[in-house]
Amino acid sequence: MGSSPPSSSIVFAVLFLVCNAAVLCYGGKTSSFVRKVEKTIDMPLDSDVFKVPPGYNAPQQVHITQGDHVGKGVIVSWVTADESGSNTVIYWSESSKKKEAEGKTYTYKFYNYTSGYIHHCIIRNLEFNTKYYYVVGVGNTTRQFWFVTPPAVGPDVPYTFGLIGDLGQTYDSNRTLTHYENNPAKGQSVLFVGDLSYADNYPNHDNVRWDTWGRFVERSVAYQPWIWTTGNHEIDFAPDIGETKPFKPYTHRYHVPYRASQSTTPFWYSIKRASAYIIVLSSYSAYGKYTPQYQWLEEELPKVNRSETPWLVVLVHSPWYNSYEYHYMEGETMRVMYEPWFVKYKVDVVFAGHVHAYERSERISNIAYNIVNGQCVPVRDQTAPVYITIGDGGNIEGLATNMTNPQPEYSAYREASFGHAIFDIKNRTHAYYGWHRNQDGYAVEADTMWFYNRYWHPVDDSTNSDS
Ligand SMILES: *[C@@H]1O[C@H](CO)[C@@H](O)[C@H](O)[C@H]1NC(C)=O
Ligand SMILES: *[C@@H]1O[C@H](CO)[C@@H](O)[C@H](O)[C@H]1NC(C)=O
Ligand SMILES: *[C@@H]1O[C@H](CO)[C@@H](O)[C@H](O)[C@H]1NC(C)=O
Ligand SMILES: *[C@@H]1O[C@H](CO)[C@@H](O)[C@H](O)[C@H]1NC(C)=O
Ligand SMILES: *[C@@H]1O[C@H](CO)[C@@H](O)[C@H](O)[C@H]1NC(C)=O
Ligand SMILES: *[C@@H]1O[C@H](CO)[C@@H](O)[C@H](O)[C@H]1NC(C)=O
Ligand SMILES: [Fe+2]
Repeated sequence: MGSSPPSSSIVFAVLFLVCNAAVLCYGGKTSSFVRKVEKTIDMPLDSDVFKVPPGYNAPQQVHITQGDHVGKGVIVSWVTADESGSNTVIYWSESSKKKEAEGKTYTYKFYNYTSGYIHHCIIRNLEFNTKYYYVVGVGNTTRQFWFVTPPAVGPDVPYTFGLIGDLGQTYDSNRTLTHYENNPAKGQSVLFVGDLSYADNYPNHDNVRWDTWGRFVERSVAYQPWIWTTGNHEIDFAPDIGETKPFKPYTHRYHVPYRASQSTTPFWYSIKRASAYIIVLSSYSAYGKYTPQYQWLEEELPKVNRSETPWLVVLVHSPWYNSYEYHYMEGETMRVMYEPWFVKYKVDVVFAGHVHAYERSERISNIAYNIVNGQCVPVRDQTAPVYITIGDGGNIEGLATNMTNPQPEYSAYREASFGHAIFDIKNRTHAYYGWHRNQDGYAVEADTMWFYNRYWHPVDDSTNSDS
C-alpha cells in the first residue's frame, strides 16, 4: 500500500479523464434542478392528518392490500382503540347484495407501548373490475369506504401503478401523498418500496408514530391497495430495550398475501395484477444460496407466464444500482446473488427505495465477472431491467444530496428531490413511466421513459441513445 504514490496518482488522473470522457459520451443526466434545502420535520401529533376519527371505538388507520394471487381478494385492516369490537367487514357492489367477512384481532406490545386492537380481514372471490363499498366498526361506530378491484389478469390489460418509497410523516411526506393523489394519471394501486412510518427514529421506537402514520395515509390506502415491501425501518430490532423480534410492529400491522405465492413469510411474495407480475423481495432477510428466500425466488421466476402477465416488475428496498454516496453498495451482495436471474428471466424494471432521492438507470447488467476475468463493470444490456430508486417520499431523515462523481454511465437520470412516480401500462408492449417532483404542478413530469416490454417488444428503449 502506498509504495509509489506518484504513479498511483497518475493512474488515478488517467482514470478520471477516461471516466469523464465516458460521461460525455453517454450523457447520463444529473438534474440541474435545485430544490430549496430545508429540514424535513415530522408533522406534530396534533396535525389534521393524524386526527382520530370521532365516535366510540371508531375504526382508524384503515388500509387495504391485495388479498390473493390474482386480485379477486382484498385484505382490509383497521385499528380500534377502546375495545376489541367486531372483526366483521360488510361489503357490496352496485349489483350485489351485502355480504360479510370475518377477520381476526391482533395486539402486540413494544417496550412500554401497547397496541390498539388491530383487525385484519380477507375478503375473497370478488368480481374483477368492480367498485365495492365496505363498512368496518360494526356494533360501535361504523365507517364506510370503497375500492375498485383490478381487471382480470390478462396480457393487454392497461393498469396504472403509483410508486412511493420511504414516506415517513413529515410535511414533505404529506406533499408527496398529495401530489400522488392529485396526479391526473390517477394511480390505481401503489407499489410501496419500503420504510413506512420511521417510528424507529423516536426514543424507544415510539410506536405511537406507527399509529399516526396509519391515520395519515388512510386517505389513500383505505381506497386503493398499497403493495408492501419491507425496508430497514420496519426491522425495529432494539435489544437494548428488550425488543429482539425483528419486524414486530410491521408484521402485526401490515398483512400481505404471501401464502398465495407459496411463500413462507410476509417478507417475500408475489402477486398478479392486471397485466403485471409483481415480485416483492426482502433486503433484510437472508438471500444467499440455500436460504428460504433464494429457494422461493428460484422456483418463482420460472412460473411467470409472460403470455398472461407480460410485465415483470420487482420491488426491493435497497437498490442494486445507486450512484449517491448514501447507502453506497449496500445492495451489492444481493445483486451478485440474483442479477443473473433477472437478466435470464427478462425482468422489465426493478423499483427500490432506501436512498432518499431519485435515480433511473439505463438497461445494464454486471454478471460477467468470475473472479479471474476482470469483467466487473456494468455494461449496456437490452435483456436487463431498468433500475429505479424512488426512496424520495420525504421522511424525517432528509434528502440524499451527495452524489458520486462523475455520474456513472449507467445512470440515466438522477436528482435529489422528493416526489413519486407512475408506471402506466398501456398494453403488452408499451408502458409509460413518469417521475414527479413535489415542487412542480401535479401534472408535471420531471423524468419520463417509454418502457418497451422485454418479452414482447425487446427493442432498445434507452433514453440516452449514443453508446
Ligand atoms: C415509555 O417510557 C418513556 C421513557 O422511557 C416515557 O417517556 C413514556 O411516557 C412511556 N410511555 C408509556 C406509554 O408509558
Ligand atoms: C361494540 O361492538 C361490539 C361488537 O359488536 C359489541 O360486542 C359491544 O357491545 C359494542 N360496545 C358498545 C359499547 O356498544
Ligand atoms: C396535508 O395535506 C392535506 C392535503 O393537501 C392538507 O389538507 C393538510 O392540511 C396537510 N396537513 C399538514 C399538516 O401539512
Ligand atoms: C400461459 O398463459 C397463456 C394465456 O393465459 C395460456 O394460454 C398458456 O397455457 C399459459 N402457459 C402455461 C405454460 O401455463
Ligand atoms: C456531503 O458532501 C459535503 C461536501 O463535500 C460534506 O461536507 C458532507 O459531509 C457530505 N455528507 C455525506 C452524508 O456524505
Ligand atoms: C400499445 O400501446 C402503444 C402506446 O399507447 C401504442 O402505440 C401501440 O399501438 C399499442 N399496441 C397495440 C397492439 O395496440
Ligand atoms: Fe431504508
